[in-house]
Amino acid sequence: MGEYSAAQKEAMKKEAGIAACDFVKSGMKVGLGTGSTVKYTILELGRRIREEHLDIEGIPTSDATELISIEQRIPLLNWEECTGLDIVIDGADEFDPNLNLIKGGGGALLREKIVAESSGGMVVVADASKQVDILGTFPLPIEVNPYGWEQTRRRIQQQCEGDVIVREKVQGDPFFTDNGNLILDAHFGPNIDAPLDLESALKEIAGVVEVGLFNEMADIVVLADPDGCQMIRKDQARI
Ligand code: 5RP
Repeated sequence: MGEYSAAQKEAMKKEAGIAACDFVKSGMKVGLGTGSTVKYTILELGRRIREEHLDIEGIPTSDATELISIEQRIPLLNWEECTGLDIVIDGADEFDPNLNLIKGGGGALLREKIVAESSGGMVVVADASKQVDILGTFPLPIEVNPYGWEQTRRRIQQQCEGDVIVREKVQGDPFFTDNGNLILDAHFGPNIDAPLDLESALKEIAGVVEVGLFNEMADIVVLADPDGCQMIRKDQARI
């Protein structure tokens, strides 16, 4: 929990999650991210649909988000009928001064990246504990195909000085993503100073399905700290 109490962190998540809804207007197709911060965004969008007649359609980035969205009565699209989204709002595990991200703490990185790539703008919702100078304190999630994952791990390990650990649901029981893949958490440490190069190198490994580095994708971070909310906007942000 870093320097913040659990209650402070929850309050920051809620503030950022709700503030990000200002970017959503009627008529938009919205990517709905995954995690405990963007959950507040989804709850607020649901409230606005019910109480203020906000007219949007969403695409969820995980089964968990799909469930919450249905509960909130947010109309959902599928990819057959949707060729692109206006905006995605999603959380992050870390963001650096260039707004490059580590994502995948919740294991939804593949769908999150497909949705982010398909969106006209990306808003990240974060509490102050997610802001870093250099990425990598948070272990980098890498989604891998279960076939030969041990060998995939060895190849990832050649690029990572720290441990590369298969994520478990409970001890001895691996975590499977919504896509039936495994997650390897790579403990790089705070030294990912060339995230684009690292992403390319890891994606050259055959068993790697997706890497939790979201480089040059985020336009704005809605950052909550105990004193309030601020918007960190990238140069030439699309939104
Ligand atoms: C899920 C993610 C989440 O967005 C990320 O882990 C942040 O989650 P939270 O808001 O719960 O801290 O990438 O795959």
